Amino acid sequence: MPAAAKRTNGAVASTSSAADRRPVTVPDFLSARSRGVRLTMLTAYDYTMARLLDAAGVDGILVGDSLGMVVQGNEHSLSVTLDEMIYHTRCVSRGVRRSLLVADMPFMSYQVSPQQALENAGRLVKEGGAHAVKLEGGVRSEASIAAIAAADIPVMGHIGLTPQSVRRLGGFRVQRDEAKLLDDARATEQAGAFALVIECVPSELARKITESVSIPTIGIGAGPACDGQILVTPDLLGLYEDVRPRFVKQYAELGREVLRAVEAFCREVQERKFPAAEHQFR
Ligand code: KIV
Repeated sequence: MPAAAKRTNGAVASTSSAADRRPVTVPDFLSARSRGVRLTMLTAYDYTMARLLDAAGVDGILVGDSLGMVVQGNEHSLSVTLDEMIYHTRCVSRGVRRSLLVADMPFMSYQVSPQQALENAGRLVKEGGAHAVKLEGGVRSEASIAAIAAADIPVMGHIGLTPQSVRRLGGFRVQRDEAKLLDDARATEQAGAFALVIECVPSELARKITESVSIPTIGIGAGPACDGQILVTPDLLGLYEDVRPRFVKQYAELGREVLRAVEAFCREVQERKFPAAEHQFR
């Protein structure tokens, strides 16, 4: 049995065959376009969800600082700390066998200097178990991306709507400044990033950006021309409905299912139907 197959997560049913179970690598991302395959990425913040996403065959798992919203209940990601990102990345890493594990660098963990960025990226790898890190900003983050990449830590860029800029942008808005976005994309590639997230950009502009770089682009609200797609998993599963951006496709209604199950539990306890005989020790 190939080593990769032995390492599969046997407890959860997988949609991938054993042959597909080789771990996904940075070179796999880089060659996706020439191989004609679309990349899939989703977010995870804990072990249980990471196991499910990994078993389902997603190429990349992002421990996104969106956890500020969907895990911590804030309105933005600005208060997420590096220690919190390391903690969640470590939890996720225990559930990952095949997917490429990318950890977000939170606000103010890379903006001060390239030295600060490198040290903090190193912590996400050494303490969190991340395979790669992601940070926001193109031209303004060039030196930090270069410093991290020079230490052989793979870096994913993130341009367009960069949620850590929410105060300057005045909200979570579609980004349309073509010249700036093209400059940001090229700067990210030249600094040594291996992939680029494009968030909330009109589809035609995202296509131009994708054509202007040789690294794969991963879109979120950026149309179908990107080399891959990413969504925030609680959005996709219908677990987080505080905000429903237009670009989200909800593939399940787990929020409703959770409500149904918890209400049934409460009812059965009140009606003395649970625990039944089969749930008791004799
Ligand atoms: O934090 C996050 O989940 C992200 C994705 C939305 C790309 O950055």
